[in-house]
Amino acid sequence: MIDQLYRKAVLTVAGQKTIEHVVRSRGWGVAQRFVAGESVQTALGAVQELRRDGILGNLDLLGEFVASPDRANEFADKVLNLLDEAHAAGVPGYVSVKLSSVGQGQTVAGADLGLTNARRIVGRAKQYGGFVCLDMEDHPRVDVTLSQFRTLVGEFGAAHVGTVLQSYLYRSEADRAALDDLHPNLRIVKGAYLEPETVAMPDKADVDASYRRLVYAHLSAGNYVNVATHDESIIRDVQHYVLAHGISKDAFEFQMLYGVRRDLQRQLAAEGYRVRAYIPYGRDWYPYFSRRIAERPANVMFVLRGMLRG
Ligand code: FDA
Repeated sequence: MIDQLYRKAVLTVAGQKTIEHVVRSRGWGVAQRFVAGESVQTALGAVQELRRDGILGNLDLLGEFVASPDRANEFADKVLNLLDEAHAAGVPGYVSVKLSSVGQGQTVAGADLGLTNARRIVGRAKQYGGFVCLDMEDHPRVDVTLSQFRTLVGEFGAAHVGTVLQSYLYRSEADRAALDDLHPNLRIVKGAYLEPETVAMPDKADVDASYRRLVYAHLSAGNYVNVATHDESIIRDVQHYVLAHGISKDAFEFQMLYGVRRDLQRQLAAEGYRVRAYIPYGRDWYPYFSRRIAERPANVMFVLRGMLRG
């Protein structure tokens, strides 16, 4: 409950235009802890650096909802360019995309533009032997994202496209079971958006218990799981679960955010687990940065200290 209040307070303050202006103009130095630069080249450099520690990368061009089809197409073109540049640099084409940034909800030529652009992106990733994870956004987008995910798996195969379920949503266990026939590659997260209690569990203990159930159910159904959390007690429990059930280390991977628990990322990789860091980059870093600050009270002090230092 306190976690919810804290998250609500930070995201509400972060949503105010004056705060956004101050943080955008003075906070880039601090944001770089969580964001791997503004250009494709710096992001590819971050992948190569992590590779030295045996950590894989998941590239994310930062961007959220855009209201015009032209901007959505432009954004999709940038993701295609990222895949091309990654291929040219010998970096695996593993990317994450928010469908709202490529036109989800906008109808163009009788089709949802988000799906049209996702087809272009997943098609290009498949051409390079890569993978696209459809990030999950706030709850009104869950139905459409899952339905578009189903379409994309049908067209490109589950080896090239995955999506995300958020354990704070009451619906996620039913959503997971309903996707089982696809044998989907799913990333399980706790959930980062400000959601009403009618759809999301307010208590952390419930969110954590739901998280474990989702991971265990998806592993037990023989599917690939991206265990995306920095929660050490969950990570330990997953390690015990796979050991007790004879599940191979190839059936799942741990995923964490760039700049968060780097020590734990390295440690797990050294222990022989597959570990992937989510590497965001780009100019539109503010909403992503706000969600990271809202996850942990100590991060607010980190930001304030960093900004005061200039
Ligand atoms: P929890 O919040 O309980 O934190 C556990 C511990 O981790 C904390 O005690 C703290 O030490 C550390 N920690 C967590 N966050 C931190 C931070 N920002 N800075 C420093 N330390 C931190 N969400 C979503 O809604 N849709 C999505 O598509 C994704 N995608 C995604 C991909 C990947 C790879 C990850 C790791 C996470 C996401 N998320 C997400 C975000 C997710 O929903 C959640 O908000 C964060 O992962 C934080 O929750 P934890 O599971 O780490 O647990």
